[in-house]
Amino acid sequence: MIDNTQKIRKSFPILKDKIQLSSCSQSALHIDVKKAIDTYLQSWQEHGMDWGGWMQACENARTEFASMINADVEEIALVSSVSHAVSSVATSLAHPRKSKVQVTDFDFPTVGHVWLSHQDRFDIEFIEQPKDGFITPDDYKKQVDHETLVVNTSHVSFYDGYKQDLAEVADVVHQKGAYFFVDAYQSLGQCEIDVKSMNIDMLSAGLQKYALGIPGIAFLYIKKEIASELTPKITGWFGQDNPFAFDIKNVEYASGARRFDSGTFPMINGFAAEAALKILNSYKIREIEQHLQYLSEVAIKECDQRGLTLKSPKDVRQKGSNTAIYLPNASEIEMKMKDKGVIVSARNDVIRIAPHLYNTEDDVMKAIQELDQCLK
Ligand SMILES: Cc1ncc(COP(=O)(O)O)c(C=O)c1O
Repeated sequence: MIDNTQKIRKSFPILKDKIQLSSCSQSALHIDVKKAIDTYLQSWQEHGMDWGGWMQACENARTEFASMINADVEEIALVSSVSHAVSSVATSLAHPRKSKVQVTDFDFPTVGHVWLSHQDRFDIEFIEQPKDGFITPDDYKKQVDHETLVVNTSHVSFYDGYKQDLAEVADVVHQKGAYFFVDAYQSLGQCEIDVKSMNIDMLSAGLQKYALGIPGIAFLYIKKEIASELTPKITGWFGQDNPFAFDIKNVEYASGARRFDSGTFPMINGFAAEAALKILNSYKIREIEQHLQYLSEVAIKECDQRGLTLKSPKDVRQKGSNTAIYLPNASEIEMKMKDKGVIVSARNDVIRIAPHLYNTEDDVMKAIQELDQCLK
């Protein structure tokens, strides 16, 4: 468990005046992340240019990300968004027999959009979530078959916070001879991710949600044995073996997942990412996860007592931090709560209460109390 929350909170200045519970959308700004962004600006202002130093910050972020998911640094590509990562993989895949790509119907829409834009090459199928519950490995057993080339699904749902057992799903997917590609945008920074023990082939995540960073930078993990077999079609000079050879007439991909790098690194975002991932890597993610499970228990109990309808699982082992409360006018309630200094995030018909390591039981109780007030 996180036991020094009060000390941690001092590094997130917004918490002095506001309750921020929006980590499924944007987590709070840590002073070190602000400092890192300022360092980039200062360097630009003072030195005019520092390509070496700016690229190094992005490389450091890549290393921190690799260590966070237990991958080798050579298995990580630096991309601009999860959409970019999925597009890069989609354009690089080809198989003589298999043409089916499966996504679940609760995944983040961008994943569906990317794969659907490749319907000329792949048959896209949506694995259905059961009407009366959450998807299980059995649903994959029934719906994935030997025609499937890749299953691309999220670790934690952006909508209701449902957390899948990746190791079990990976087993099913691999039994059918397909690749397992995970969208970890909603789990990075709040749940343990170990690509080796979970047997994940590819994984992508950005920094803006629970990873304490900003958008504009994301990472793509591709298992070493697979990466070198793939030919990226979304590419550029940074994906080359030697970007600084300036050889316009030849394509010579870098080895490993670095071949999925493309253009100039998003440098200012890299500074923020390096700082953010360093902060997270200084904790045991399991402790953050336990803290968030406790806050989920608090949220679920408080909602039940107030008669609020939950969309999230009630078993905290099956969910991430996000507790989704059903409200048809969720966006309106988000604005009203913001006016009262409580930052939460609406999606469609839910308000998501998404705490992080810096939040307390008191934050969660006050937010739900405020939400209830706004409804009256
Ligand atoms: C699970 C998940 N995947 C993907 C995305 C979109 O990522 P990007 O905008 O980096 O493409 C989001 C954004 O909220 C998300 O929650």
